[in-house]
Amino acid sequence: MVRISDIFKKHPQERHSRAEHKPKEEPPKETIPPPPPQDANSMHIAKIIKETASDNARYDNLYLAGIQLIKEILTGTEQSKPADLDRTRAWIENITESLFFNDKEFLRLFYEYASENYMYTHMVNTAIMSAEIGLGLGYNKSQLNEVGLAGFLHDIGMAKVGNLQMQERRLTEAEYSRIKEHPVYGADILSGIKGVSEPVIYVARQEHERVNGTGYPRGLKDGEISEYARIVMIADVYEALTHNRPYRKKISAHDAIKELISSHPLFDSAILKVLINKLGIYPLSSWVQLNSNDIGKVIINNNEFPLRPVVHILFDSTGRRLREPQIVNLSKQFNLFIKRALGYEDLASEIKERLEGS
Ligand SMILES: [Fe+2]
Repeated sequence: MVRISDIFKKHPQERHSRAEHKPKEEPPKETIPPPPPQDANSMHIAKIIKETASDNARYDNLYLAGIQLIKEILTGTEQSKPADLDRTRAWIENITESLFFNDKEFLRLFYEYASENYMYTHMVNTAIMSAEIGLGLGYNKSQLNEVGLAGFLHDIGMAKVGNLQMQERRLTEAEYSRIKEHPVYGADILSGIKGVSEPVIYVARQEHERVNGTGYPRGLKDGEISEYARIVMIADVYEALTHNRPYRKKISAHDAIKELISSHPLFDSAILKVLINKLGIYPLSSWVQLNSNDIGKVIINNNEFPLRPVVHILFDSTGRRLREPQIVNLSKQFNLFIKRALGYEDLASEIKERLEGS
């Protein structure tokens, strides 16, 4: 078996060569750091800064290439044009290769990017999170690519139900029944594309099933649902909870984990555990309050000490935004700890209350 790491060791320069939308290698002009200072150590740091800026631009471009790709696929599907599978495979391979090396940039984009139609972000994000879970399950390269592809295309059937998902109003019973047909449409569409494997088709058909038999379209249970579908259903729900929809607001990453845990009979518990291990108790971008009452955002997880991530402190204990935000590594500052996680509602009222009280 060829491992991804072996390929990269031999051909590091080819890491992203298969992507049709090749990311730019240089950062935009305004992000180019100042000329490096003369001493060797400073020159080394300047080089790292430059490479990091370049890397970030590359991740952004790769993520945006996925948004553009799924937009074209969904629009093409509405007009009965088959998806460009080679280009799609090339994109997903780039994503899984980056995730394999523990790149957290895609997770940042997962939480922060919003597209004009939430379906585009949803499908890119579900691909990323499905592959991330696959990594946690020890999948090899081809399994990662397949589960990532399945996550990317899982809702392709939505292209055949009009724009019902974009409605802000409550759907009628008839409209909701129509939406519930999208798994069957999706499986049919994917069956018509040459080269799409059976497991990917199964995911489109089964990702709304639930392991306790309460899902649709067939009410399948446990092992009757494919493993990839049991992965994608968790990635799909987590993504939906952590992003706004026209008819409801998102909840925080921490609350989304709690919600999944409380709905555990619906999901494969071993796969859910893998997701929680991967994301941490306080996932990236969660808002937390420390025992000092300062409020900040989790920016780096600590797998060894999940209760002690790195936090970007943005508001002080009086609720005022800091002029110079601080970065606190809780695994090094033992006098500080997380007192509680804050949802978006808590955060707004917490800061408002403090400002009014000051
Ligand atoms: Fe779906």
